Amino acid sequence: MHGESDLNLWSTAHSEPIGVPAFLFEVKASHYWVSVMVDDSRISGFYKLTREERIKKVIELTGISEEEMKPLASPGDVDLDVLENMIENVIGSMTLPLGIATNFQVNGKDYLVPMAIEEPSVVAAASNAARWTRKHGGFSAVDTGPIMISQIQAIGVSAPYSAKHEILKAKEELLALANEQDPILVKFGGGARDLRVKVIDSSVGPMVITELLVDTRDAMGANAVNTMAEALAPEIEKLTGGRVLLRILSNLADQRLVRVKAVFDKELLGGEEVIDGIIAAWAFAEADPYRCATHNKGILNGVDAVVIATGNDFRAIEAGAHSYASVGGYSSLTKYERDPDGNLVGTIEIPMAVGLVGGATKVHPVARACVKILGVETGLELAHILASVGLAQNAAAMRALASEGIQKGHMALHARNVAATAGARGDMIEKIAKQMVKEKNVKVERAKEILAELSG
Ligand code: MEV
Repeated sequence: MHGESDLNLWSTAHSEPIGVPAFLFEVKASHYWVSVMVDDSRISGFYKLTREERIKKVIELTGISEEEMKPLASPGDVDLDVLENMIENVIGSMTLPLGIATNFQVNGKDYLVPMAIEEPSVVAAASNAARWTRKHGGFSAVDTGPIMISQIQAIGVSAPYSAKHEILKAKEELLALANEQDPILVKFGGGARDLRVKVIDSSVGPMVITELLVDTRDAMGANAVNTMAEALAPEIEKLTGGRVLLRILSNLADQRLVRVKAVFDKELLGGEEVIDGIIAAWAFAEADPYRCATHNKGILNGVDAVVIATGNDFRAIEAGAHSYASVGGYSSLTKYERDPDGNLVGTIEIPMAVGLVGGATKVHPVARACVKILGVETGLELAHILASVGLAQNAAAMRALASEGIQKGHMALHARNVAATAGARGDMIEKIAKQMVKEKNVKVERAKEILAELSG
């Protein structure tokens, strides 16, 4: 890693409830975010500050209040009663480290990006790669709008193509019925927009699949589109003469794409040879699914961390990303090329089904604080940042893999983990970690020995 290459670990936060997972939240609630805007996301030496200093800095830069920061800075303060109502059989919470990625500028606006993740180097890598883009305007993002697809499966249809015709003929009435299910979404400018029908062959015979396309605005939209699909089912049965079985959203959210472009500075990357290496590393992913799986995983390292921090559904994001990458043969979600000046130009195209209303985003106090720190006002603004972080993460991984490898950066942080596990605290952690890395002997036993020596 280059430049600011330490982990911006500033708090242990984001308590995930433990229990049997199930999401039963209302997405219809209206919302209003008070926007905060950071003037500049470059915070020199952020990683060198103590945790308390980092918290102060974020308060100072974003305008978030100390009260709002409280659950985030001391996860023990997250009310278990809140978590208890999120899922079933709650016994406690699972805490992840929460870091801040710096240097992000997306569509001309600066952001401090909260990332909840257990893996070392991810936050530092994203911050570094974001820094390489700043000279060239940061990240530029566009989207297709927040359109979610819901599927209604009709089986036992004796004349499937005739049934398809009947459904399409009733399209306007079906869309109206869908919209009746969610007047609040419609009030906020969303709602069912279109409907399409396909006949598919399957091992149990032909099926008529109706797909409802719904603009879910600032909601992730799972509840909204599932409710609509369920409401349409009796009508679809009448129109097809068949039986409706499944009524559920598709996570292949290919109508909810975000496209981001960034120019990574040639000099900051380390010159032409490094760029050659990055492009060859990317070409490897494009040519080989075994490599491509890891390449795309690296993108999701960054995306998921922000998705989790903001209380969104990272399984939906994973499913969407990998299924979208598989359309037409599994390939990279990113592309790389050179601009006329020899800089590296990266682009990413990725489904991004995230929201700001409903679910944990609104209920979990840490997620609420993270959204406030980000200062995003719409789900699409959040989606733009997520795709930008994915691209940054990937560029950083390519840069490291095509040069010194990732183990060096990983090792330094791993050594700190090991030192802490051995009982070191405060300054001791860094001293012991450095010593172990120097000796190339990063083990708890060795950490204990050094700790004993240093403690006299
Ligand atoms: C590790 O979590 C992610 C990487 O393996 C991604 C990649 O190989 O591109 C470094």
